[in-house]
Amino acid sequence: MKTIFSGIQPSGTLTLGNYLGALRQFTELQDDHECYFCIVDEHAITVPQDRLELRKNIRSLAALYLASGIDPEKSTLFIQSEVPAHAQLGWMMQSISYIGELERMTQFKDKSEGKSAVSAALFTYPALMAADILLYNTDIVPVGDDQKQHLELTRDLAQRFNNRYNDIFTIPEVRIPKVGARIMSLKDPLKKMSKSDENKKGFISMLDEPKQIIKKIKSAVTDSEGIIKYDKENKPGVSNLLTIYSSCTGESIESLEKKYEGKGYGDFKQDVAEAVVNLLEPIQNRYYELIESKELDTILDEGAEKASFKANKMLQKAKKAMGLGRVKK
Ligand code: TYM
Repeated sequence: MKTIFSGIQPSGTLTLGNYLGALRQFTELQDDHECYFCIVDEHAITVPQDRLELRKNIRSLAALYLASGIDPEKSTLFIQSEVPAHAQLGWMMQSISYIGELERMTQFKDKSEGKSAVSAALFTYPALMAADILLYNTDIVPVGDDQKQHLELTRDLAQRFNNRYNDIFTIPEVRIPKVGARIMSLKDPLKKMSKSDENKKGFISMLDEPKQIIKKIKSAVTDSEGIIKYDKENKPGVSNLLTIYSSCTGESIESLEKKYEGKGYGDFKQDVAEAVVNLLEPIQNRYYELIESKELDTILDEGAEKASFKANKMLQKAKKAMGLGRVKK
């Protein structure tokens, strides 16, 4: 059975982009894979976080994972900082990462651009992400398109470690969905939909109320042509809405283009909004049942224990390969 690992940062309520690009794939994979899903709180602190907000976001993300269909009987769900092996292997991976390759990471460039106080952790973050993945003998990493470059670096680091020390790490493959790998902002369809966008109308949060969702989609930027056709370059707004519609309903983009031939943007947007509401509403209902439950803590306790068991084995192998500590007699 192949092993899956993926993580999401608890840095604000997830967006529709996170769901369609990542989370939804996770639930599809758990039936026939050994799955580890992580709330990567140590990644979140690479930019300043309010302590209480972060706590709240960690719990909220755990509930969203479960509400979206992650089944603790099938998957291991845990919080990164509750499994110390991540930070430990993260440090070791930093020692084999080169400054030049970290400087090439577009996410680092985007997040640090124009800022004077950028943390060292934001820069070395891909080494921690590599550790997350490599600790579990991961075969496949389901992510959205924006994590592709980090995955390529993970593969390079794993190969470098294996060549230099000992052949212990599995080289992971990336898995990116065919539709929905990069959901764009509703206000600027040339930019990725992001939970850190200052313009709240640019993204749909997974917990937005139906009324808000309808309003946001109705005010999404399109063009003046009035034709519903997928053309990413010339019609990025309409193409993004088609992608969202197709991802939410499973209907192909070609079939949607046919269905809306001769129709206007008003009808189209109304239907896109309904498709999003239909998808998110049941998840939201489950979320509110789970968020205050004791069950959530039990699941996270058991998850941390199961993840630690597996991660510690790999950590010991990596330490031995590098010559850290003493050999146990
Ligand atoms: P994060 O928290 O930014 O995003 C979580 C997942 O959501 C995907 N995603 C999107 N997909 C489609 N359209 C969008 N607009 C969109 N925005 C985000 C991301 O690609 C991601 O899959 N570094 C990672 C977290 C991480 C991780 C890992 C992932 C840490 N360790 C190990 C996989 C394996 C991150 O910041 O994702």
